[in-house]
Amino acid sequence: MSVAKPIPHDSAELHVTGAARYIDDVPLPANTAHLAFGLSTVAHADIVSIDLSAVRAAPGVIAVWTADDLPFTNDVSPSAHDEPLLATGTVHYVGQPIFLVIAQSHLQARKAARKGKVVYREKPAILTVDQALAADSRFEGGPVVWSKGDAAAAIDGAPKVIAGRFLMGGQEHFYLEGQAALAMPAEGGVVVQSSTQHPTEIQHKVAEAIGLPMHAVRVESRRMGGGFGGKESQGNALAVSCALVARLLGRPAKMRYDRDDDMTITGKRHDFRIEYRVGVDAEGHIKGIEFLQLARCGWSMDLSLPVADRAMLHADNAYNLDHVRIESHRLKTNTQSATAYRGFGGPQGMLGIERVMDHIAHDLGLDPTAVRKRNFYAEATDRAAPVPAPGHESFPKDPLVDLGSRGSETMIRSDAAMPKANGFQTTPYHMPVEDFILNGLVARLEADAGLAERRAQIDAWNRRNPILKRGIALTPVKFGISFTLTHLNQAGALVHVYQDGSIHLNHGGTEMGQGLFRKVSQVAAASFGVDVGAVMITATDTGKVPNTSATAASSGSDLNGMAVKDACDRIRDRMAEYLAQQHQTDAAKVRFENGKVLVGGDEMSFAEAAGRCYMGRVSLSQTGFYATPKITWDRKAGRGRPFFYFAYGASVTEVVIDTLTGENRILRTDILHDAGASLNPALDIGQVEGAYVQGAGWLTTEELVWDDKGRLRTHAPSTYKIPACSDRPRMFNVALWDGANREETIYRSKAVGEPPFMHGISAFMALSQACAACGPNYPDLQAPATAEAVLAAVKRARGQA
Ligand code: MTE
Ligand code: MOS
Repeated sequence: MSVAKPIPHDSAELHVTGAARYIDDVPLPANTAHLAFGLSTVAHADIVSIDLSAVRAAPGVIAVWTADDLPFTNDVSPSAHDEPLLATGTVHYVGQPIFLVIAQSHLQARKAARKGKVVYREKPAILTVDQALAADSRFEGGPVVWSKGDAAAAIDGAPKVIAGRFLMGGQEHFYLEGQAALAMPAEGGVVVQSSTQHPTEIQHKVAEAIGLPMHAVRVESRRMGGGFGGKESQGNALAVSCALVARLLGRPAKMRYDRDDDMTITGKRHDFRIEYRVGVDAEGHIKGIEFLQLARCGWSMDLSLPVADRAMLHADNAYNLDHVRIESHRLKTNTQSATAYRGFGGPQGMLGIERVMDHIAHDLGLDPTAVRKRNFYAEATDRAAPVPAPGHESFPKDPLVDLGSRGSETMIRSDAAMPKANGFQTTPYHMPVEDFILNGLVARLEADAGLAERRAQIDAWNRRNPILKRGIALTPVKFGISFTLTHLNQAGALVHVYQDGSIHLNHGGTEMGQGLFRKVSQVAAASFGVDVGAVMITATDTGKVPNTSATAASSGSDLNGMAVKDACDRIRDRMAEYLAQQHQTDAAKVRFENGKVLVGGDEMSFAEAAGRCYMGRVSLSQTGFYATPKITWDRKAGRGRPFFYFAYGASVTEVVIDTLTGENRILRTDILHDAGASLNPALDIGQVEGAYVQGAGWLTTEELVWDDKGRLRTHAPSTYKIPACSDRPRMFNVALWDGANREETIYRSKAVGEPPFMHGISAFMALSQACAACGPNYPDLQAPATAEAVLAAVKRARGQA
């Protein structure tokens, strides 16, 4: 069977030879127009006047438009209709598009865009968390508060109270392929090619902008050169601009941001300030905890509310908190509108409590791993396979991994005093944690990584070395899988079997390098018992599968895999029924395996079977559909089951710092990650490796700096440092946990796209440990742990600050 095999990415060869086609590689018709935005140079101002005469006179310029030239809706927001494509009267951040230049070439458009003369009447700009709090500048009226138990009383009644304040920076996506779109005029509408995670939203926003129904707009996306959340909503402006030109000027139009423009215009990960107060006993058990999460959301709402929600939903990470209160502020600032980025707020929430664990261990003089394990959720004792959800009764046909086999090294914690739901402990949002596996997983990782021995060696090494200090840390991950906006948890597919037995596959998910298309093709091949080579992977297309969700929340293969399986199984069942009839046998006895169809003692190729079904007038085309079961969520109350299941994992990172310069290196990383019964271990390990490096980059070298005018000073790779090959761990051991998903996901796999990003937290905590080795005080390391931040933390540890 084609699932569970480590088959290479379908485009691996194309990627490495440069043959994979991105928007910028599409051959263009001769009269294609090229677009660029004229950008605001101030953070907050009323526009007094705009003089575009020099822009219009510049070489190659075809037209220049402002908001007044837009015939229909001037909005590219994914949520609140608060994000005009072109500014209307007021500008809200440095980099906001004010006018659109349409020119003969890309370079001419960009050069002309610099020639606009805008007169501003400046207003006070709100740039920082404190300024936003002081001005009460926020989305959603007031803070959102979710709680369980009585945190304040539990903290005040605890033997020891620890408090702190922690800053974590944002992060630029730095997808290798920048934002890009291309639109062609078509009869009655437009066809758009877009580098987007969300073709349906592009379709929706384009339709609004050109004043036509969605059926007049077709959006296609073959692949992105990385999205990482940055192409959930940030591609709207480019696609809408191109479509407007195609529609109004009747010529093809293309737009791509250069790197500087991309970094200046588009949103990034939300930076957060997290304040905490925690009550603990002498062993480090958390008795009560309060978090204040302050998220800098930028000028428009974009996806900030669900991002901030997800930060709250991951404030517990892997730890049982009986008395907890989380207060979240979504602050509106005159900066780029912060957006989705791998983990979608989860990393920020999780980093908050990992920081608390580090702080508790330091102040109590305990081993940080012991403190973490002491606070883990209890493991589920019931190892029985779950009852199939309604509507998926057919599922047990598939070979399921033996669920009983993976509890062997589990250490069950008995803690009878804790409140439980159906015997399970609950999260701060009152969801029972039914599938916890971290006790066993962490025990295995500790052994594999030799954590105890290495910690002792590092302590000894640190005693001998005054200048270089080492640190090691283990951090766990528990990440909730599903969109918290329940209706998004649906997917569709369209599958055709041609009469020669070749298979045309389409679904609503998009490919951004994560390997979704390969995984889904494995699912299709498994249904028909053919080789993956028989399955043609095709571009995502709103004309084939409608009303799709963004490929996001790591649920691409969960959702689309199921929808594809639904479609394929239906075709296969029709084929089986027809062939069984012909052979006077039972449809249930028809087998599809190894490219053959076995029916009533007869054997034929899949191609022959398809040909016969065609001759017998059997439909060989089918849509498929899937909606995630079991989820319910009341976000106002902060209660319910927002997630179908959790993905787990843990990592151990060892680092070394130079206490004279603050420079640091990752020496070794060991990761054990839970991808359920992996659909493709090669792709999943690739996801884990890439995610770790990206997560470690977020918390070490990737620093975004805005000046006091709100200008982003780090808008190119010269000033913004993503990890290079040489920054990866010197030794990097990644393994997948061997266990199936307890829930009925596609072949019992688990989503893998985002969860391993948060293994990067172990690099940060290892750096904190290394700083702590320099002196008696808590180093209070802030993120990102740049050389400067490490140096400051070393000084604090020594009491020199
Ligand atoms: N991997 C690669 N190579 N490129 C990407 O852009 N995006 C990540 C993750 N892995 C990304 C990636 C993000 S933010 C998400 S939500 C998931 O992939 C989306 O894909 P999936 O749902 O199919 O896992
Ligand atoms: Mo991923 S941040 O959900 O696109």
